[in-house]
Amino acid sequence: MSTRRRHLLAIEGMTRGEIEPILDRARFHRQRAAAGTPAQTLAGKVVLNAFFEDSTRTRASFEIAAKSLGAQVVNWLAKVSSIQKGETLFDTARNLDAVGVNALVIRHASSGAAYLLAQVVRCAVVNAGDGTHEHPSQALLDAFTLREHLGPLQGRRVLIVGDILHSRVARSNVHCLQALGASVTVCGPPTLLPPGMAELGCTVTEDLDAALPSADAVMMLRLQNERQAEALFPSAREFSRGWGLTVRRAERLLPHAIVLHPGPINREVEIASSVADGPRSVILEQVTNGVAVRMAILEEACA
Ligand code: CP
Repeated sequence: MSTRRRHLLAIEGMTRGEIEPILDRARFHRQRAAAGTPAQTLAGKVVLNAFFEDSTRTRASFEIAAKSLGAQVVNWLAKVSSIQKGETLFDTARNLDAVGVNALVIRHASSGAAYLLAQVVRCAVVNAGDGTHEHPSQALLDAFTLREHLGPLQGRRVLIVGDILHSRVARSNVHCLQALGASVTVCGPPTLLPPGMAELGCTVTEDLDAALPSADAVMMLRLQNERQAEALFPSAREFSRGWGLTVRRAERLLPHAIVLHPGPINREVEIASSVADGPRSVILEQVTNGVAVRMAILEEACA
């Protein structure tokens, strides 16, 4: 297996031929898990979770995925590590690598952190979210969930709504969905639509009401207040009025259309509670599917 295939650093550059086998393998794992007979393909392997940013879903599901396949898991915590004594990220990673880790799962606030570490360690590096750059495992679990509901994604229309500017989920999804043949529209207030989305092949619009009726799936994004150094819209209420998925807006979706959100949700800001918890929502399915998808990812990383 090539170095590029062992690491999972970004979806950008991955082909349909590389993505689909991961989704197919995840399906196998989901079926085995449902039958209570998970494969033990990671017995004897060590997976280390290094999360420099907070996480609920990603960290827990990487841990459950690794343990379900028989790996040992180390949950390394920056707050009680020698980072606090001034050790650099590079030295930290190289020392953890030297301890005998097979896969280093890293989340970091700096875009490119996972890529940089992959240059200095022998173990596989799995990007669990780096700054505003990419969140590849999220895009893969989103694609898995979409495929389960809509079938092959060729020709399907996916609408991504909200804080596109700060969203690594949006960036990974654009690359993933396009590689699988879907067309992607991004929608949000002009201050939260980064330049370059049209050049990536997306349709770009500020008009959510016009975009909703033709979408096969709507992916709502969290407003990332922690990454906003300046006010980029007047208020949460104004944002919700223009770009929130309200009950009334959800009624205008196609009958088969589904609603996704990577979590965590700002209820009644980007999405109404009754939509998030309603019949179109596949939000908790996304979380469940994340375990199977991360099993497939870790198998590739540790191979
Ligand atoms: N979707 C996602 O990355 O959630 P967490 O931040 O809880 O891991």
